Amino acid sequence: MSCMLLFDVTGDQRMGEINKAVIPAAGMGTRFLPASKAIPKELLPVFDVPLIHKAVEECVNSDIKEIIFIISHGKDSIIQYFENSLEYEKLMHEKNMEVYASYFKKLRSEISFKYVYQPVQLGLGHAVLLAKEHINSEAFAVILPDDVILGKQSALNELVSIYNLFQTSVLAVENVPNEKLSDYGVIKPYQIQKSIYEVYDMIEKPKIGFAPSNLGIVGRYILTPEIFEVLETVKPGVNGEIQLTDGLLSLLEIQKIHACEFSGIRFDAGNPVGLLKASIHYGMSDEKYKKEIREWIQGTLKSEI
Ligand code: G1P
Repeated sequence: MSCMLLFDVTGDQRMGEINKAVIPAAGMGTRFLPASKAIPKELLPVFDVPLIHKAVEECVNSDIKEIIFIISHGKDSIIQYFENSLEYEKLMHEKNMEVYASYFKKLRSEISFKYVYQPVQLGLGHAVLLAKEHINSEAFAVILPDDVILGKQSALNELVSIYNLFQTSVLAVENVPNEKLSDYGVIKPYQIQKSIYEVYDMIEKPKIGFAPSNLGIVGRYILTPEIFEVLETVKPGVNGEIQLTDGLLSLLEIQKIHACEFSGIRFDAGNPVGLLKASIHYGMSDEKYKKEIREWIQGTLKSEI
């Protein structure tokens, strides 16, 4: 059961208090070398749409009005991707790609884009801190494009519904197998209702045997603006980076934090196998391609590669 169902938030309902989103996209994409040498990994496609397109789509579906991208040098093609192009919009319209034509039209008329350069990769917490001047004093969303979440409900919408109930920071979490926990921030939860937790503690990339639960943080957050104050004082943690999880742990000393087990399926598209799985899943959700992909996979499984 999803957070959305619990609180009966229908797709039409505009919960409305989260207007800005931060999308960190400054990482080097080393797991996608050599492709990421010339193409930002965020522009690699989940089937036919770039990862960052999916992240922005989630923002659009949550009525976000302003998106702040944290990028690095060499990632200017992300700016180009979201630049207005009436020519391409017209082309998509003519080629029966109405869904994409209207996506870009909507972006053009409804969303304001800001870009902040992160000169050195000092971690996710540092990337979020760079958005401070654009956020001021309101709660905001953070979306990590590497985490692709597919499903009927938008994961971000589910988080917004929890934020509207508690007015606290809200983290997306999912059940992670023991052997993978050390890749995640992991929370110590107190269950309030099915799929909704109060967070009592958390640790970034715990060593084996030290995770406080199996609930790993996934790349969707609603953060209260006090996160900036604490991130300014957080010391480098795991991998020598300013970790968002460490900032959240400090935030926990002054505010409650909640977590939500979202309803969609999440793919870790930060690595080639995860991106491939996301692409297949997404491609198969399209009636036009479903049969061909299924038949090819079935045939491939029978043959020896
Ligand atoms: C980041 C966060 C981690 C979170 C993960 C989700 O880690 O630091 O807490 O669990 O995203 O994808 P990264 O994947 O950048 O190492």
